[in-house]
Amino acid sequence: MMEEGDRKDAAPGGEPIISVEQVVVETEKIAQKGLTNDYLAGLARNEPYVSIENLRAGYGKMEVLHDFNLQVAKNQSLCLIGPNGAGKSTILHSIFGFTNIFSGSIKIDGEDITRLTPNEKLKKSGIAYILQDQSVFPGMTVEENLWMGGYLMDSPQEAKEKAEQIFEKYPRLAERRNQKARVLSGGERRLLEISRALVMEPEVLLVDEPSIGLEPRFIDMVFEILDDLQHGEGKTIIMVEQNAKKGLEFADIGYVLVSGETAIAGPGDELLENPDVGRLFLGG
Ligand SMILES: Nc1ncnc2c1ncn2[C@@H]1O[C@H](COP(=O)(O)OP(=O)(O)O)[C@@H](O)[C@H]1O
Ligand SMILES: [Mg+2]
Repeated sequence: MMEEGDRKDAAPGGEPIISVEQVVVETEKIAQKGLTNDYLAGLARNEPYVSIENLRAGYGKMEVLHDFNLQVAKNQSLCLIGPNGAGKSTILHSIFGFTNIFSGSIKIDGEDITRLTPNEKLKKSGIAYILQDQSVFPGMTVEENLWMGGYLMDSPQEAKEKAEQIFEKYPRLAERRNQKARVLSGGERRLLEISRALVMEPEVLLVDEPSIGLEPRFIDMVFEILDDLQHGEGKTIIMVEQNAKKGLEFADIGYVLVSGETAIAGPGDELLENPDVGRLFLGG
């Protein structure tokens, strides 16, 4: 018989649940020895498009990322997984310019962008940040939301033209162009969030937990959209995903982050097959 107090240790299906603290301890035990920059470069075909070197960054005076390194080639995708609080979102925040950077550098196509503001990153460096902290404007129509995505463009007309291209690509959104965003389903809202970022024609998409809060059929839809953006439109994608299985199935490269450092890195499909990653992050 299970006692009342044991319940927190078991998921509804009877699978044992381990705490974040335990995951951290366990992951540190299985951390890859000698995870070198050469290895990370190899994963990125030795042609890094986005590269992060020896980054120390955080909020206020608190350092969240300690000597963090990342490399991803153009047209590749990289997925960050790891326990809550590991610093995954902080990596995306740092690339986009939302954190305090104490040292280290972030480069795109060889150009140092470490100190640019988010607006400069969006407008000049072609980086877009999607989701988690961001949301659509519920009282505006779908169309107006898309126009807002182009607020940094030189003229509103440019944003409107780009919005039309997006409506051609996603009929699902076009059907609802005059409806308020608040009436959209969860999946449509996510599509709008992604589309709004596309108005600026970014090369690099930073995507934070695209599947969060979505029903399974919409999760598949979101991953199909991301797949098309990578393989159909040549975008480079850096994503964080709590649904590690989906994220690693999707991404070319996977990093397991623990306490602000990378414990394990490898091709996404290899991480999927890694029994330790499976035990700690894939639910079995
Ligand atoms: N805006 C913020 N201000 C201060 N601390 C933050 C902020 N965002 C995150 N943190 C802290 O940074 C650490 C890493 O958080 P985060 O990057 O959000 O983790 P993850 O995305 O892996 O769950 C946590 O200790 C969290 O409390
Ligand atoms: Mg996060």
